[in-house]
Amino acid sequence: MLFSRDLVILAALVGVAYPIPLEAQGQCGIEAQAQCCASLRETAVADLVFTYGDSEYLEAKRSYYSVTTSLNSPCIVLAESAADVSTVVKTLTQPELAPNCPFAIRSGGHSMVRGNSDIAAGVTIDLSRMNATVFHPETETASIGPGARWQSVYETLEPFGVAVSGGRLGSVGVGGFLTGGGITVHSAQRGWACDDVVAFEVVLANGTITRATQEINADLFHVLKGGSSNLAIVTNFEVNAFAQGDMWGGYAVYDNSSTPQLARSLANFTDNIEQDPRALLVTFWTYDSRVGVNNAQNALYYTAPDEYPSAYGDFYAIPNVSSTARTTDLLRIVTELPDYTALFRVHFITLTFYNDARIVEYGVRLYNDLLENIKSNVSGGDWVIIAGFQPLPTLFATSGLSKGGNILGLEREEDNQIVLLLEAFWQHVADDDLFYGLANSLIQDLDDYARSLGLNSEWLYLNYAGRYQDPLRGYGPENMQRLQQVASLYDPTGVFQTQVPGGFKISAAIASGETR
Ligand SMILES: Cc1cc2nc3c(=O)[nH]c(=O)nc-3n(C[C@H](O)[C@H](O)[C@H](O)COP(=O)(O)OP(=O)(O)OC[C@H]3O[C@@H](n4cnc5c(N)ncnc54)[C@H](O)[C@@H]3O)c2cc1C
Ligand SMILES: *[C@@H]1O[C@H](CO)[C@@H](O)[C@H](O)[C@H]1NC(C)=O
Ligand SMILES: *[C@@H]1O[C@H](CO)[C@@H](O)[C@H](O)[C@H]1NC(C)=O
Ligand SMILES: *[C@@H]1O[C@H](CO)[C@@H](O)[C@H](O)[C@H]1NC(C)=O
Ligand SMILES: *[C@@H]1O[C@H](CO)[C@@H](O)[C@H](O)[C@H]1NC(C)=O
Ligand SMILES: *[C@@H]1O[C@H](CO)[C@@H](O)[C@H](O)[C@H]1NC(C)=O
Ligand SMILES: *[C@@H]1O[C@H](CO)[C@@H](O)[C@H](O)[C@H]1NC(C)=O
Repeated sequence: MLFSRDLVILAALVGVAYPIPLEAQGQCGIEAQAQCCASLRETAVADLVFTYGDSEYLEAKRSYYSVTTSLNSPCIVLAESAADVSTVVKTLTQPELAPNCPFAIRSGGHSMVRGNSDIAAGVTIDLSRMNATVFHPETETASIGPGARWQSVYETLEPFGVAVSGGRLGSVGVGGFLTGGGITVHSAQRGWACDDVVAFEVVLANGTITRATQEINADLFHVLKGGSSNLAIVTNFEVNAFAQGDMWGGYAVYDNSSTPQLARSLANFTDNIEQDPRALLVTFWTYDSRVGVNNAQNALYYTAPDEYPSAYGDFYAIPNVSSTARTTDLLRIVTELPDYTALFRVHFITLTFYNDARIVEYGVRLYNDLLENIKSNVSGGDWVIIAGFQPLPTLFATSGLSKGGNILGLEREEDNQIVLLLEAFWQHVADDDLFYGLANSLIQDLDDYARSLGLNSEWLYLNYAGRYQDPLRGYGPENMQRLQQVASLYDPTGVFQTQVPGGFKISAAIASGETR
């Protein structure tokens, strides 16, 4: 059943006859779900409901990050306004429809977890048409639709000489990013991207359209910053805009024999960010079967136009193979690396540990073993592995606190941490178990190693978390309780816990804690 859904998307991408008839997919409950779509066609959003065979449907399904995260919903609604979203929510939550009409919320569709922002047996509320960015000079804020991609946001704002806290790759979506946290090139200066939100426009579980700010629905405002899909559907974000001219940065490539120096420099850099919070970076090890070279790279992001800032001093001493570091602008930085094609199957998984070069080095050793295993065991096709390490200094939390803080729970930390994001891309369904299995055991082994040094962390970044990880638990018991309380206040019947199954759920996080 799962494979046939992938096949429809794949077929579409490679131009095979499309759509594959519904019967051939062996989906269950088709008739009940057809009723959900039929009911929507009797409402004001009738013209925005699309299904198999509609080019709008195909285009929407193609624009997910991966063939493994794009599913065949019986229908999607390409909402154009908060009123449209409200209509859909009111319709699908009617008691006679609700049990058979689960739904998904999709903004940029860049979640790497299957089922987080799409649904096979239900309706997908697709917000990608709500993608406008408007700058408000009088308040120094920007209003951004959840379906925007960061590239278009920066493009719209650049002529005004301003930027916002957003993604470091232009194709990433806004809605998931801002409700899940958001690590940006400005995070050491400004905190998490969600800390820069000043107002959320939301559709609640009962279809009511309202706002959440520091004054209105302040409890909801606070927990939306990290609460992801647990509370409401965000239909617009108003965020701080700030002056941003040229910056310095780019990608430096190193031979992997430099791994020990890179690991030491990353650890030292992480402990010195407070000296110059304009500097951030991601140090990653990567292998692409099409190129066949295992190398290391630094993505350097310096938010002022200063050449070779001393913050990266340790790294300049490491010989590089090539470097694009230059004075440029944010837009060019976020479009420099190509994004991967939707044709790859993906698995992303994350780990956080306290800053220590030994753990980074051990992680790279495990990554090298993983590469060798894949090389000799993969069935074929192209594949790519990226193990990216980035600083998670306490400064991210303290920089955000002045703006009200968030629900991520990082202000409790006294020590700097490092986040690993392990990304696997491959092509053959037959290799699913290989890639999932090896990536998951690398994370387990590295966590065990960090624990053996007393440097393991319970925190996990929600926007990087893999399918069976439980990032909400890492927010800590008090934040979990707060999230649950606010969720039950604004969504007393638990629509976002049960009828919207995708995403990391507070009810599940609490239940898993109770059975442990
Ligand atoms: C190539 C790449 C680069 C990345 N770079 C960064 C980076 O620089 N920094 C960083 O922090 N993260 C980064 N990420 C991770 C990114 O934050 C997540 O993938 C995020 O989910 C993307 O948001 P989206 O709108 O595209 O997600 P979607 O897949 O649309 O949604 C993700 C989750 O959020 C929920 N959701 C989406 N929109 C809404 C809404 N409007 N209201 C309520 N819930 C909603 C969905 O239901 C789903 O559970 C990157 C990911 C990729 C693949
Ligand atoms: C918004 O999305 C539409 C297609 O859905 C696209 O044509 C348009 O260019 C996008 N606008 C922006 C600002 O990204
Ligand atoms: C460099 O890459 C090769 C090939 O993948 C690997 O065997 C070796 O261990 C790597 N060296 C370091 C220092 O990581
Ligand atoms: C660590 O970084 C600081 C500040 O950038 C630098 O002065 C110092 O030399 C570095 N220490 C080591 C051991 O590399
Ligand atoms: C890369 O190497 C070149 C040549 O040695 C050097 O001039 C440059 O400073 C290095 N760049 C970085 C980012 O380390
Ligand atoms: C290939 O997989 C087998 C079975 O899991 C394993 O024993 C072997 O070590 C793998 N090959 C390499 C080079 O790791
Ligand atoms: C919708 O839900 C909110 C939050 O629970 C509540 O305040 C409001 O009264 C509800 N509106 C209707 C029409 O039921």
